[in-house]
Amino acid sequence: MQKNTYLKCIDVHCGLEYSIFSTRIECEKGHLLDVKYTQKPSESLKERFLSRRNPEGSIFNESGVWRFRELLNFCQIDTESIEDCASSLVSLDGAEGRQSKPYHMSKVADFVNLLVEGLWLQPEGYNPSGSFKDNGMAAAITHAKLVNEKKIVCASTGNTSASAAMYAANEGMECFVYIPSGQIAPGKLSQAYQFGAQLIEVDGNFDDCLAKSLEDAKKFAGYTVNSINPFRIEGQKTISYRSLEHLNWKAPDWIIYPGGALGNTSSCGKSLMELYEWGWIKKIPRIAVINSEGASTLSDLYNGKFEGDELRWNKGNPNYELIKRYYADLDSKGIKPKTKATAIQIGRPINILKALRALEFTNGVVITVSDNEMLDGMAVVGLNGFDCEMASGAVPSGIKKLIKEQVIKKDDIVVGILTGRQKDAMLPVDYHNNPENRFARPPKN
Ligand code: F0G
Repeated sequence: MQKNTYLKCIDVHCGLEYSIFSTRIECEKGHLLDVKYTQKPSESLKERFLSRRNPEGSIFNESGVWRFRELLNFCQIDTESIEDCASSLVSLDGAEGRQSKPYHMSKVADFVNLLVEGLWLQPEGYNPSGSFKDNGMAAAITHAKLVNEKKIVCASTGNTSASAAMYAANEGMECFVYIPSGQIAPGKLSQAYQFGAQLIEVDGNFDDCLAKSLEDAKKFAGYTVNSINPFRIEGQKTISYRSLEHLNWKAPDWIIYPGGALGNTSSCGKSLMELYEWGWIKKIPRIAVINSEGASTLSDLYNGKFEGDELRWNKGNPNYELIKRYYADLDSKGIKPKTKATAIQIGRPINILKALRALEFTNGVVITVSDNEMLDGMAVVGLNGFDCEMASGAVPSGIKKLIKEQVIKKDDIVVGILTGRQKDAMLPVDYHNNPENRFARPPKN
C-alpha cells in the first residue's frame, strides 16, 4: 500500500523524499514538501467525477473534495465501496465542497466592468465551517488519521481554527488553536469555543501565533494543520477542480484569490501544474493574487517594491536572501501587517515559495487593494444574494483594478474564489450605516 505516493521536497537542489506516513511538514533542511503521485490518472475519470454528482448513497461522492479522490489519492483508495472509503477518508458527512461551484453575479460583473457571462464567482463560504478551509482540512485530518495522530494544532486568523475544531470534534481528536488575542472576528472565535477546541491566546499577530504553534507542536507532538501541511494543499486542489469541471474542463483566462498565507495560491498552482502535465487542460489560466495594502509581503517582493528586485521562483532558484532581508527590514522598522480584513492580516506567508512556483507556472500577477475597496467588493457580492467576508471582497475589487489597468481584458473569462462567509456581523452594519460608502443603504426612521 501507498507505494504510488510519497512526499518530496520542493527545493530543486534538495529534492529529499519521504514516505507518505511521515508527519514532517518540512524536509530536514527546512524546505516545504509536496505530495507526489507516480501514476498519471486516466482522463476518463472526468466522466466518473460527473457521474458521482448523483451520489447514489455515498457521502464520498457527495463531498466536493472526495468526489475527486483519485486526484489526491495519498490513501490509495481504488474502490467505490463506502465502507472502504469510510475506513480511510475523513468527511463531514459529505458536506465539504458539496455546495461550492461557480456562479454568475450580474451586479458584481457591472461593478468590475466585465460581461456577466465572463465572470464566475465561487463561494467557498458555503462549506460546513464557513470557509474554503474545509477542503484542505478534510485531507489533512485524513492524513492525521492515516498516521494515527490525535492531537491537532493550528495557528489561525479564525477560519482555520473553526475548520480544524469542527473536524477534530467529529473525529474525537483534541484540537489546540493559537490565535492572535483580540484580532479575530467574533463569529470565528465563537466557533473554536463551540467545537470544543483549546484556545491559546497569543499576544501578537498571526505570524507570532504560527511560530509559537509550530514550536509547541514539535515539543508536544502535535499534528499541524496549517497550510504548511502538504495534505492541506492536496485538499484545496479540489477548489479549482470544481471550477474547471463546471466549465467542462475548459480553462478560464484567470483564477483570482485573496492572498494571506498563500496556501490557496499554492494549491491552485499545483492543481494546474498536474492537470496540464496530464493533458486534462490545454491552456494554463493565469493566477492573480490580491493582497491587502496593509499586508502586502508578496506584492512588495513580487513587484520589486523592496530593493527594486522582483522576486521570482526562477526555475527553483529564488532569491532567498531577498526574502530574509525583507523580513529583517519589517522587524527593524517595527512594521506589522494591518488591515480590517483580519483573515489576511499576515506578514510572513509560509507558502511564499510554493506561491512563487505557482505564479511562474501560470504567468501570474500580484496586486494590492485597500480596505475600502475590499468592503465595496464584499458589499456588492451581497447585492447579488451571496455572502462573503471582507477578505473575499478582495476578489471583486482586485478584478476591478486589473480590468482598469487592462491586465485582465474585457472579453476574458475570469473565475474568482470567494474564500469565506461573513463572520464579523458588525462589518456590514457599519458599512451600510455610513452613507459615504458606495453601496451603503442606511436605515430610515
Ligand atoms: N480568505 C479567507 C476567508 C481566509 O480565512 C484566509 C486565511 C485567506 C483568504 C487567505 O488564504 O492563506 O490560502 O492565502 N485564513 C487563515 C486562517 C490564515 O487562519 O483562517 P491563504
